Amino acid sequence: MTDDARSHVAQVLAAGDLEISGRLVQASNATFLAEARDGGTTVPCVYKPVRGEKPLWDFPTGTLAGREVAAYVVSELGGWDVVPTTVLGDGPFGPGMVQAWVDVPDDADVVDVVPEGEVPDGWLHVLDAFDERDRPISLVHADDERLRRLALFDVVVNNADRKGGHVLPDADGNVRGCDHGICFHMEDKLRTVLWGWSDEALTDDELTTLGALRVELEEEPVRRRLLGLISPIEHLALVGRVDALIGSGRLPEPAGHWPSIPWPAF
Ligand SMILES: Nc1ncnc2c1ncn2[C@@H]1O[C@H](COP(=O)(O)OP(=O)(O)O)[C@@H](O)[C@H]1O
Ligand SMILES: [Mg+2]
Repeated sequence: MTDDARSHVAQVLAAGDLEISGRLVQASNATFLAEARDGGTTVPCVYKPVRGEKPLWDFPTGTLAGREVAAYVVSELGGWDVVPTTVLGDGPFGPGMVQAWVDVPDDADVVDVVPEGEVPDGWLHVLDAFDERDRPISLVHADDERLRRLALFDVVVNNADRKGGHVLPDADGNVRGCDHGICFHMEDKLRTVLWGWSDEALTDDELTTLGALRVELEEEPVRRRLLGLISPIEHLALVGRVDALIGSGRLPEPAGHWPSIPWPAF
């Protein structure tokens, strides 16, 4: 998508009329399927009103929509393009986050569960566990550069909820993520299924991207935009995580003081 097309989508999502077409019942917050309409343009989207946010013990109530938008901003700043266009908008249930819908083909799995030890070629092993019928299984994900980009992004935004179902491969070959409402906590809360590259060295390209992002995060317009979405201390922590990645030169390992895999994993 060109920059123009993208900003048009953002404008329709933010300023268009939202018409709800369904509710995502498996979602933990009030999460609606909707269509944003502006002039002749219709954009299928997800709408999560702030009023429908489920209170959490560790994230201040009413802040999840801002975190989702901040995740989109960081994805764009890093040039990662791993988050569908996400804006603050307004709908039938009041202000909330509005995000472009991604169509995921049925056969597009990039995170999966297989019988224990049977890791397919070109896939990486994450952990062994038992399924609901006590059968030994392995959680695996594709050894795919697009997923690795998402994994690095998750470290930067401190994603506390990268489930398999929050990874969205589309028919055009993009892999994007959704549900970034519990990102940017100032304490380490990284919980993800994408541990396949844990402790691997960052590539030169990744380090260059992080270096550029580090500079951008402190540029005044960017800082001001982010401070409308996350708190000042969370912005500092964000810069600190980028510094830590550059300093260590590696993708992190599970920290051990917090469950490192979201459960359920999908
Ligand atoms: N932008 C999107 N495009 C496609 N599917 C989405 C999108 N956002 C959410 N989903 C789907 O809807 C499910 C529920 O949405 P999610 O954002 O996880 O809500 P909740 O915050 O309530 O958990 C996701 O697991 C995913 O399958
Ligand atoms: Mg979810």
